[in-house]
Amino acid sequence: MAEYKRTLITSALPYANGPVHIGHLAGVYVPADIYARYLRMKGEEVAFIGGSDEHGVPITLKAKNEGITPQDVVDKYHNIIKDSFARFGISFDVYSRTTSKIHHETASEFFRKLYDDGKFIEKTNEQYYDEEAGQFLADRYIVGTCPKCNNEKAYGDQCESCGSSLNATDLINPKSMLSGSVPVMRETKHWYLPLDEYEPWLKEWILEQHKEWKPNVYGQCKSWLDGGLNPRAVTRDLKWGVPVPVAGAEGKVLYVWFDAPIGYISATKEWSADWEKWWKDEDTRMLHFIGKDNIVFHCIIFPSMLKAEGTYNLPENVPANEFLNLEGDKISTSRNWAVWLHEYLEEFPGKEDVLKYVLTANAPETKDNDFTWKDFQARNNNELVAILGNFVNRALVLTQKYYNGEVPNRGKLTDFDTETLERLSTLKSEVEKSLDTFRFREALKLAMDMARLGNKYLADMEPWKVVKTDEERVKTIMNICLQITANLTIVFEPFLPLTMNKLRGFMNIDKLPWRELGNIDLLFAGHKVNKPELLFEKIDDAMVEAQMQKLFDTKKANDMAEASVKPVKENCTFDDFMKMDIRVGTILEAEKVAKTKKLMKLLVDTGIDKRIVVSGIAEYYNPEEVVGKQVSIVVNLEPRKLRGIESQGMILMADNADGTLKFVSPEAMVVNGSEVK
Ligand code: 2FM
Ligand code: ZN
Repeated sequence: MAEYKRTLITSALPYANGPVHIGHLAGVYVPADIYARYLRMKGEEVAFIGGSDEHGVPITLKAKNEGITPQDVVDKYHNIIKDSFARFGISFDVYSRTTSKIHHETASEFFRKLYDDGKFIEKTNEQYYDEEAGQFLADRYIVGTCPKCNNEKAYGDQCESCGSSLNATDLINPKSMLSGSVPVMRETKHWYLPLDEYEPWLKEWILEQHKEWKPNVYGQCKSWLDGGLNPRAVTRDLKWGVPVPVAGAEGKVLYVWFDAPIGYISATKEWSADWEKWWKDEDTRMLHFIGKDNIVFHCIIFPSMLKAEGTYNLPENVPANEFLNLEGDKISTSRNWAVWLHEYLEEFPGKEDVLKYVLTANAPETKDNDFTWKDFQARNNNELVAILGNFVNRALVLTQKYYNGEVPNRGKLTDFDTETLERLSTLKSEVEKSLDTFRFREALKLAMDMARLGNKYLADMEPWKVVKTDEERVKTIMNICLQITANLTIVFEPFLPLTMNKLRGFMNIDKLPWRELGNIDLLFAGHKVNKPELLFEKIDDAMVEAQMQKLFDTKKANDMAEASVKPVKENCTFDDFMKMDIRVGTILEAEKVAKTKKLMKLLVDTGIDKRIVVSGIAEYYNPEEVVGKQVSIVVNLEPRKLRGIESQGMILMADNADGTLKFVSPEAMVVNGSEVK
C-alpha cells in the first residue's frame, strides 16, 4: 500500500502469568513505541494498541500451583505489567486485557460469525482425559518421558530439554499434572479452521505480494507454507477462557491463540467508538509488532481468520524481531534468568531511557542478540554520557557563560560550518529511511551520529580559544551548536522521550514536529535557554557488578536445584511402605557429639518412650535451636551404633537444594506418638 491515511499499530499481548522483562521490551514494545512516536511527530493518525493476554493453560497451572484462581493470577500480573510499561513511557493509546467483557463479547461474536458462515470443520477425536480430575487435558497438562531424549519431564506439547515439539500421545508414561494419575483416551469434539484451504491464497498474499517483509519473517512464513498447512483446532476442553458460543459446547473455550489476536480488536473498541475505521477502512494500514515465536500466528493464522471473517483489513507488515539473550543464556521466566522491568525501575530510578537506548542499540532485529551488563555500562558511559550528554551540556554551559543564556546571532558561515549543516540535513533523510523500514537500531545510530557531529564541530572549532581573538566568530559557532542541540530534541524524541523532555526544559522550547528536523533556524537569536543539568550520569563498576552478582546467584541456585532433584527411585509396594513406623516426637535434649562435625545426640520423646537418636544435623543447627521441636522419627529402624552411641531410630530431614537439611515437622502441634502415614 503506497498511500494510507492512518496506522494501526498492534504490539503482542504479553501473557499475564508473570512480569515483563528486557526481552519483551527489546523485541516488541520499544520498537513499536519508537514507531508510534515517530508517526505521531509526523502528524500522522496513529492508534497504538496493547493489552494483556489473560487466557491459556499456563495461567491455570500457575493458579493451581499457587492455590489461587486464574483471575487472581491475571489481576496481579496485568497490573504489574501495565505499570512497568507506563513507567518506561510506552505510549499505548490503550492497554486492555482479554478477560474484559468487551473482549469476551468480541471474540465470541467473531467465532460465531465464522461458525454461522460455515468456515469451520467439526471433528471428533480422542484426547487424553483425567478421570480423577474429571476433565480433558490440554497438552501442557501432561508430563512424561520425551521419546527423543528420555527427559522425564517433557510436556505434552514440547520437550524443553531437547526442544522437540511433541504430541501428547508421543510421551512415554504420560501423567496428568492435575492429579498425577495416568490419563485415558476419550472422544471429544472440536472446531478447526481449515488452514489448508487458505494455503494458495496465503502463498500469493505473502510470498508474492509481501516480498518486502523482513527476511526473518518472510523466511519463516515460506517454510511454513512450503511444509503445507493443516486444519487447526480453535477450541479447547478447558474451563478458563472465552466459552465456545455454540449449543452443546459446554466445558469448551476458544483456543487462546484464537482469542488473543482478537484482543487487538476488542482493545480498539474499548478505546474508540469509531473503531471500525481502524480495522476496516482500506486507507488504514495495520502493523503487528511481535517476537519471532509469534510469527506463524500473526502472518498465517490470524490473517486466515480475518480473511474468513471477510470484513477486516489484513496486516500490511509484521516487523517481528528475533530473541534477546541475557549474558549468553536464553531468557527464561521459570529459571528466573531475566532482567525484570519492575526490578530495574526500582534499582535504576530515572534511567528508563538508558535501558531503552541500550536495547535499541543492540536490538535483535535480524538475529538473536545478547544483553550484557558490561555493554549496558559501556553504552551509557561512552555514548549517552560522553557523546550526547557531553555535547549538549557544553553547548548550553558555554551559552550561559558567554551570553548569559541568550542564543547569539549567526554570522558568515565557513565551509566547515556549511558542511556540518549539510550533514545535518542528509542525516535527517537517512534516519527517516531507517525508521520507515523498521531498522530502529540503524536509526538510533544515525541519531547518535548527529550528536557526534555536534561534538566534533565543537571540539574542532574550540570556541574557548577563539573567544580570545574573534568574538563574532564565537557567536556563529555557538549558534550552530545550539541549532544542532534543538535538532537533537527532535531526532531523539522517538527513542529517549523522557530525556528529550528534560532537554527541552533546559532549552526552553516546546516539542517540535518531525518536519523541523534538519532546520537550522529552530532557535532565534535572543531566545533564552536555561541553566542545564547533566542529562545522563556515569554508571560505575559497582552498579554493574551488583547486577552480575545477582545473576550469578540465580545461576548457582538453578544449578543446585537441577543437581539436587534426584530421579525417582524404583517403585516400592504399599506393604513395603507400611513396614516403616514413622511417628511424631519432640526433641527434649540435644548435645553435639564430641570430636565430630556432623553428629548431634538427641533425646526424643516419641510418645511411646524417650530414646536416644544420633542425627547428622550438627552442621545446620545448634543444640539450643532444636530443643522443643516436633519432628518425624522412624521408630522401628534397627538400632545402630554411631561413635559408640546407640542410635534408636532416624529423624526425617528434607535435603534442601542448597545442601542444607531441614526438619520434616507437622504444620501444627500434634500429640507425640502420632503416626506419619
Ligand atoms: O507469546 C505471547 O506472549 C502471546 N501472549 C502473544 C499474543 S499476541 C496476540 F495475539 F495477542
Ligand atoms: Zn526431549
